[in-house]
Amino acid sequence: MSNKTVTPKKRRAWSTNVFVKQLMAISGLFFVMFVIVHAYGNLKMFLGQEAYDHYAHWLKGEAFYPLLPHGGLIIIFRLAMISMALLHIGAAFHTWIISNRARKDRYTVKKNVADSYAARTMRMTAVILLAMVVFHILHFTTAHIPAGFAATEMSPYMRMVGAFQNPGLVVLYAIFVGALALHIGHGIWSAFQSIGWLRRNTQHVATVAGGAVAALVFVLFMAPPVAIAVGFIS
Ligand code: HEM
Repeated sequence: MSNKTVTPKKRRAWSTNVFVKQLMAISGLFFVMFVIVHAYGNLKMFLGQEAYDHYAHWLKGEAFYPLLPHGGLIIIFRLAMISMALLHIGAAFHTWIISNRARKDRYTVKKNVADSYAARTMRMTAVILLAMVVFHILHFTTAHIPAGFAATEMSPYMRMVGAFQNPGLVVLYAIFVGALALHIGHGIWSAFQSIGWLRRNTQHVATVAGGAVAALVFVLFMAPPVAIAVGFIS
């Protein structure tokens, strides 16, 4: 598109799109940090029942007390998660609508194959992730889905062991965490692009960084369920 054809209206729309993509990158980075901390925390399962239960109770109770009130961390955490999810999903819808509109625009050059493959993967993994997060909360937090354990009164350690003694749940969580890894891998690459860091000489860095974080998250999350399934943790 030549500069002469760019109207102020089009320029404004372009800068709004860049802003929305940056919001997506920032909220995405928040989720990446959350999943790394969550996966790291779950590794306390390897330190035994006392260590894991203590950690789980600390998180929901006296975490950062007296700086925060009793149970304050979990409230702040949930509010932050909901706001970031609204931002991330809202930005995704905005980008999706814009790219659909652009596809119909006769001035738009056809998108390259790798780009649309990444966009399709992002949408598919996003749907799996949303469904699985709902399942995960109904499973572990509220115990409305009592798969693998009987009651919320059971200790956090025993609930985890009870759940992953069922190989079906290990497979289901592998699909969940696999979708997350793919989403993060592509997401980090897109974030580099949105922030304006994607150049010919940084493409490789973006691909390696995305792949490395994705692999790390997958391995850290799946270690406790696999260890339980094979009887290493019981
Ligand atoms: C093998 C993988 C995972 C395991 C074993 C696991 C386990 C757990 C456990 C035990 C809790 C605490 C539940 C409670 O006592 O309230 C929890 C909370 C949570 N998990 Fe996971 N998790 C896994 C993966 C994930 C992933 C991939 C995500 C998101 C993408 C996620 C998101 C959450 C959230 C948002 C909470 C907090 C819910 C609340 O507000 O109470 N988890 N998880």
